[in-house]
Amino acid sequence: MSFVRNAWYVAGWARDIDRSLAKRTILGDELVVFRKENGDPAALRDLCPHRSLPLSLGRLKGDAVQCGYHGLTFDCSGACISVPGQETIPPNARVRSYPVAERMGMIWVWMGPADLADPADIYDLPQYHHPDWGVGHGDALHVEANYLLLTDNLCDPAHVNYVHPTTLGDPDGEAAGIDVEQRDGCVTTIRWTPDSEPVGFFKAFGNFPGKVDRWQYYHMHVPSIAIIDFGSAAAGAGAMDGNRDDCIQTYSCHFMTPVDKATTIDYWLHVRNFAPGDDSVTDGISEQFRIAFAEDKIILQAVQKSEQRYGVDGRAGIDIDAGPGLFRHLVNKALRAENRAEAAE
Ligand code: FES
Ligand SMILES: [Fe+2]
Repeated sequence: MSFVRNAWYVAGWARDIDRSLAKRTILGDELVVFRKENGDPAALRDLCPHRSLPLSLGRLKGDAVQCGYHGLTFDCSGACISVPGQETIPPNARVRSYPVAERMGMIWVWMGPADLADPADIYDLPQYHHPDWGVGHGDALHVEANYLLLTDNLCDPAHVNYVHPTTLGDPDGEAAGIDVEQRDGCVTTIRWTPDSEPVGFFKAFGNFPGKVDRWQYYHMHVPSIAIIDFGSAAAGAGAMDGNRDDCIQTYSCHFMTPVDKATTIDYWLHVRNFAPGDDSVTDGISEQFRIAFAEDKIILQAVQKSEQRYGVDGRAGIDIDAGPGLFRHLVNKALRAENRAEAAE
């Protein structure tokens, strides 16, 4: 199985990348990620071209990485700038350097050909930067499952009633219908649960005296970014017609980085339209999400194991598979386009 390479993937939380040499595996490539003296992030292939020691076992010398075996030293462009004991530098003493950028508290790496990298393509959520909205940077959740099982799950608002009964789901929602829309490399799966009891999340943060209209808009972007618009307003107050003046709304954001074909890291964060400066609210939301995402992890790892053991042929299909199916179609389209471009070169 191949991955979409012409994309920006998260290599780590900005808070975790510093002046040490951090090893990261992304799409099967091993990278060493660090910060330059001026604070800018940098990423090189984690492999010395001399005798194959991972560069992450070496040391930083200013902005250059010195290999820990015989001291070959590479600048951030991947060029060898020093070979101890000799004047000449072999022309193939060079490592791949990856375009890298910092956005929304994360370090992003472009995994395709460097000349196609444009930092303007990095996903950005406007509310993240808005002073009326509060932000919580969550965890890096390791899931032993292929990333497409995670993207299936994030095109699937129906699972919350069964997987997350105490936080995000409720039995009233069982019969609520699902709509699917598609636009520019994004599949949006929509579910409204009108006139229902607030679910655990909105009981904790909403103070709604009665029933609510609850929405879930799951925006799943190729190849692996999910932005979940999740909210509630007093039942009948017009939220379903677009009036969100008096509502509790969160964006739960998942930036998923495939490590290899059976492992994915989900960097998640959340953005909310209430109590923007209140750290106890930030922590409370993170705690609810931590419970929910641990529930997803159990399900997805179990599905991964079953798929490996039994394959996927002959499985039953139901209506709610439309969103995940459409998203996989978009990923396949992106993969085919990359393969065609590669073949043409
Ligand atoms: S293996 Fe890196 S310098 Fe020899
Ligand atoms: Fe879930």
